[in-house]
Amino acid sequence: MDLRPYLQTALDAAYLAKGIHQYYQEKGFTLSSKSTPTDLVTQADHESEAAIRELITTRHPDHVVLGEEQGQDKEGTFRWIVDPLDGTVNYAHGFPFYAVSIGLEAHGNLVLGVILDTARGDLFTATKGGGAFMNGRPIRVSPRATLPGCLLATGFPYDVSKDTENLIYFQRALTKGLTVRRPGAASLDLAYVAAGRLDGFWEVKLNPWDVAAGWLIIREAGGMVTGIEGEAYQLGNRYLVASNGLIHQPLLDTLHGR
Ligand code: IPD
Ligand code: CA
Ligand code: CA
Repeated sequence: MDLRPYLQTALDAAYLAKGIHQYYQEKGFTLSSKSTPTDLVTQADHESEAAIRELITTRHPDHVVLGEEQGQDKEGTFRWIVDPLDGTVNYAHGFPFYAVSIGLEAHGNLVLGVILDTARGDLFTATKGGGAFMNGRPIRVSPRATLPGCLLATGFPYDVSKDTENLIYFQRALTKGLTVRRPGAASLDLAYVAAGRLDGFWEVKLNPWDVAAGWLIIREAGGMVTGIEGEAYQLGNRYLVASNGLIHQPLLDTLHGR
């Protein structure tokens, strides 16, 4: 399959979203909350998803889109999986770690992923079998083989008081003396594992739009993504552990208190 036209669509959609993120960052935006007072959504989330959808469905009328804000209305052979603004809480505070994440599934398999850090400008891309790139240069996961000295990341649900599960994993990692960050945009956490900026990442309540693009980018960069028990990852598994592969088992062992 020639993925180049789809990659072009993904890139155009990502840069469209970047323009919208930047526009509202400068102009100011309306803010409302979704599931909890800390689960925020802005005009930039809604408008960037609308713009991405319009671009994709204009160019590829038979494709379907699963987007965080509007969901998915029909089934199709080609499915775009879109987080129009990942890291909304960061965005709302002007904390420059947020992104747009766009993955494409063909016949149920991910074939393309694009993550654009719309504050810093870093672009992460991958096509199935074609390798992973940051700003056009090939990337590989880190070569670090032991957990001590690794830089890890995780993420938490919006209201940890209502869902404390990850505190156990977090505590196990920290009490082993490991260094763990909580940057706040899962797609970029995954992209950073692919680029070797992080050695590993886990989170326990993710959605397909947080994961799709980053999962492929990590695989194409030589890394590993599994569920929390080490099982093969499948989109829809809300538990995800990603790493450079070398530290994967020790990271799983740590999370499970072994
Ligand atoms: C969230 C971010 C965050 C992660 C949450 C996600 P959103 O996405 O990726 O880092 O911890 O699980 O829901 O709501 O900003 O698109
Ligand atoms: Ca997200
Ligand atoms: Ca989002």
